[in-house]
Amino acid sequence: MATKNIRLEVMRAIEPRVTGFMNDFLIPVEDIWQPTDFLPDSQSDGFLEEVKELRGESQELGYDFWVTMVADTITEEALPTYESWLMDVEGIDQHAENKNGWSKWVRAWTAEENRHGDVLNKYLYLSGRVNMREIEMTTQHLISDGFDIGTDRDPYKNFVYTSFQELATNISHKRVGQMAKKKGNALLGKMCTIIAGDEMRHHLAYREFVKTIFGEDPSGMMLAFADMMKKKIVMPAHFLRESGGSAGTAFENFSNCAQRLGVYTAMDYIDILKKLNAYWQLDAVRALNDEAQKARDYLLKLPERLERIATRMQFPEDTYRFKWVEANGML
Ligand SMILES: [Fe+2]
Ligand SMILES: [Fe+2]
Repeated sequence: MATKNIRLEVMRAIEPRVTGFMNDFLIPVEDIWQPTDFLPDSQSDGFLEEVKELRGESQELGYDFWVTMVADTITEEALPTYESWLMDVEGIDQHAENKNGWSKWVRAWTAEENRHGDVLNKYLYLSGRVNMREIEMTTQHLISDGFDIGTDRDPYKNFVYTSFQELATNISHKRVGQMAKKKGNALLGKMCTIIAGDEMRHHLAYREFVKTIFGEDPSGMMLAFADMMKKKIVMPAHFLRESGGSAGTAFENFSNCAQRLGVYTAMDYIDILKKLNAYWQLDAVRALNDEAQKARDYLLKLPERLERIATRMQFPEDTYRFKWVEANGML
């Protein structure tokens, strides 16, 4: 039987359990936080006073901080790309007669994610520290450029990607939050920490999907995981550009900023891989074919190999200046 059909069968076999996953890993709308919970209340008489306070608190934060925070926001704002990509994955079928559970998952996950870009965007706007028009142009470019994460329509590869990426965003939002708090910005600190909490729940869900697939198709899952790691997990905003630039040109500069700041580093990438290897208990997976056993060996040795490379990596103190933060010139 063709590989394609096995994947579809596995997705169908797991589908009845998706409602359970949604109950375990997502939070009902009425119970979850909303952007408004963290922002000045525009219906209150004290609104302008609260905004003033917010602007005061954001004075202490430096250039690299804002660049990283802006790029994180734009990455969240490109959510239409992620939803349309996932809806197109094999086995996720929004046209199925009795509403396929996987497509319900994608919608509910998207709905939770949508709050992240929303709250960050409003905060940035009120802070007065960044050039919103430049940010908006970058966002429009990024959504229009889309992405290519090397997963094709393969559910196994896509769930490896999301398992990895949700933890990466958890780390970076968490660190940005800690930095904001350290600089006396309690509100922003709280906001980023609560977003990080959502990312963690999503990570736990996606890694569970992969674990379940390992139970159904161990060799196929192992090969898909190894294939993704060979290609390297690219960031969802890898096509990032500024106004007037070409696709992808701003990404490296942003990545350098995040590395310098210690918000997301090569060592974090390796840590995530180690955590995934451990949770999926690679060494205990049974019934692997020859090729999949080789893939497992590769994956188990990979963290150490990457560590050797990471220690030699250097991040330039580049002189590049983003248009997003240039406006009020406070570096
Ligand atoms: Fe998010
Ligand atoms: Fe996320």
